[in-house]
Amino acid sequence: MKIDATLPEPEIIARAAEILHGGGLVAFPTETVYGLGANALEGESVARIYEAKGRPSRNPLIVHVSEAAEVHALVSEWPEHAALLAQKFWPGPLTLVLPRTARVPDAVTGGGETVGVRVPAHPVAHALLKTTGFPIAAPSANLSLQLSPTRAEHVLAGLTGRIEAILDGGPTSGGLESTVLDLTRPVPLLLRPGLITPAQIEAVIGPIERLSTNSHAVSAQGPLPAPGMLSRHYAPHATLEIYPGDPLARIVSLLAKGERVGWLTRRSREEWSAFADANAEADPHLSIAPMPDDPALYASDLYATLHTLDGQSVTRILVDPLPESDDWLAVRDRLQRASAPDL
Ligand code: TXA
Ligand code: MG
Repeated sequence: MKIDATLPEPEIIARAAEILHGGGLVAFPTETVYGLGANALEGESVARIYEAKGRPSRNPLIVHVSEAAEVHALVSEWPEHAALLAQKFWPGPLTLVLPRTARVPDAVTGGGETVGVRVPAHPVAHALLKTTGFPIAAPSANLSLQLSPTRAEHVLAGLTGRIEAILDGGPTSGGLESTVLDLTRPVPLLLRPGLITPAQIEAVIGPIERLSTNSHAVSAQGPLPAPGMLSRHYAPHATLEIYPGDPLARIVSLLAKGERVGWLTRRSREEWSAFADANAEADPHLSIAPMPDDPALYASDLYATLHTLDGQSVTRILVDPLPESDDWLAVRDRLQRASAPDL
């Protein structure tokens, strides 16, 4: 259902809310990516999310609420850190992990004693939450382990026939999933980097800890501190490599082997177009994707670019290495996971 992203039509929101009330699944835009929503207080509805996505049931879901006051029914503790962060970053792309109350079904938490909560900023998500009157559990609206959707078409490509409805509010602005911060520990732990950076969080609550980005230590077995931290995740169909050497030499050799190559580059158009003209202008097997040299803009474009390359049946995606600075942390994290070998 097409919906206005800034002033969502109440009658369309009402239809979506009705589906959720009946136990159905509705995909909807947030300021990060599209979510796949169900009534968070009904274990059976939530179970359908796992079925539709093919998601392992021990991977907990984020619960979305329309305003901070509503989390009190869901969490048994609301520490000072939580209050400060909520005040500063909600509504917005920050998920806080806190001890749950008995109102939160096991289906949401994967059986664990904590729950991730956030207040999304997107007007459609907000209107839907206001209208249903209950919290909405929503993971990204993609098949498990695949790329998150930033457009309704991406949701359709993965979940057609598996869900009741999609609210199509056009492309999402943020482009990467929310930052996930565990507040149940003495020192808060960054479980998933996202659009809110560690520096922004530390400016409010002081030092936090980070899981090492390349956390291959988190295996497919055993308890999952943050299953989104599984090494391979957020992956396109093509093999993705972050290539530190001379990309042009690499591209020539891949093309010679018959690969269809996509290249994500922050180089200037002059730099790569000279190459493309000389070697590959006539080569339909090379797609060059110019990327912004700004972390927020890069994040906003990344998944849509990878979805497009997948759509062109590219077999290999080369990515220029990214700056090591903190503002690029979330983008580096997703690309590292997208490039990790299959488990
Ligand atoms: O931006 C987002 O966060 C989007 C939109 C729809 O809100 N949602 C999203 O959900 O990305 P999902 O399920 O794809 O990723 C949620 C991440 C997973 O890595 C999950 O393991 C972690 O949050 N998570 C959720 N609840 C948790 C909990 N109680 N403890 C630890 N990690 C949790
Ligand atoms: Mg996801």
